[in-house]
Amino acid sequence: MDYSGGTGILINRLRLRIFDRQVGMLIVDSSPKFLRVALEHFRDDPRVALRLIRWLKDRRRLQYVDEVVEPEVMERGFDAIVSTNAIHLYGDLADTLRSWERALKPSGLVFVNSGNIRNPQAGPNEWILDETVYVIHEIATGLVRTDPRYSEYRSALDDGERMAKHLAVRDRVFLAPRPVQFYVDELNRAGLLVEEVTQSTIEANVDDWFEFMKAYHEPLLGWIGGSAKIDGRPRRKRRWQTGWPSSGTPWTFSSGAERSSAVAGRTSAAAAPRWFNSLPPRAWGALKLECIQSGGRG
Ligand SMILES: C[S@@+](CC[C@H](N)C(=O)[O-])C[C@H]1O[C@@H](n2cnc3c(N)ncnc32)[C@H](O)[C@@H]1O
Repeated sequence: MDYSGGTGILINRLRLRIFDRQVGMLIVDSSPKFLRVALEHFRDDPRVALRLIRWLKDRRRLQYVDEVVEPEVMERGFDAIVSTNAIHLYGDLADTLRSWERALKPSGLVFVNSGNIRNPQAGPNEWILDETVYVIHEIATGLVRTDPRYSEYRSALDDGERMAKHLAVRDRVFLAPRPVQFYVDELNRAGLLVEEVTQSTIEANVDDWFEFMKAYHEPLLGWIGGSAKIDGRPRRKRRWQTGWPSSGTPWTFSSGAERSSAVAGRTSAAAAPRWFNSLPPRAWGALKLECIQSGGRG
């Protein structure tokens, strides 16, 4: 069972490894949109089933997996439950984990992965990607305050009430990461014995980081362009120059990452573009970009 399997990325990859072996696979998710995409991928593969867990309004919770899977399947139990990049989103974590425990065979295994878990062994320059949103806000605030090109947004900064609403939206979308021990404790409490915990640092290119962040422009910098939900009128459409400000020298920004995080130490300060050197000290302390002179990506 791929719990929170979304569009089915993991099962798609697994299928490339198992070829035509007859393994039953189930994707469970709370998003009809994602499951619709999954359906397109898997409609011709009888080994793959999909189940939507719905929000139960009266009980103010999502359905549990045993409420959407047939009793005979529950009785047989699942060999394995996998959750990738989703556990940090579960509002009712304890109940969700207990539903996994009910669905699992006695010898079954659970595999959990998330890029949004605090790793106490992370190096000082390793970042959780979602946490760069606070730094982006700091830097944008600094630019708007100091750079005449963005002066038209200064009034947005002075509107404390509106700003607070935007930041509240941001904080609902980008949840503060919890430490790995929190999840270990919750898994144990649900009757799942934790056998192994591993962590890895993943190099993320700033281009990838930028692409990822672009999808979240509204919670990220909605105070600049506006948001229909908060301002009661559609977001202002405007052509922005994307990519990094150019200087005389072509630049690549690369970043060290802890499963989706960014950023390392500056290696070539002398050649840094002017905007970069003019970051306020607080932002600079928080966002250190490793700059490597390169052959042309900017
Ligand atoms: C970042 S996506 C990851 C999707 C997929 N596992 C992957 O790695 O591509 C998070 C997924 O968790 C689902 N999700 C969010 N909250 C959930 C919840 N409380 N219970 C189950 N699934 C949830 C979302 O619908 C989404 O498909």
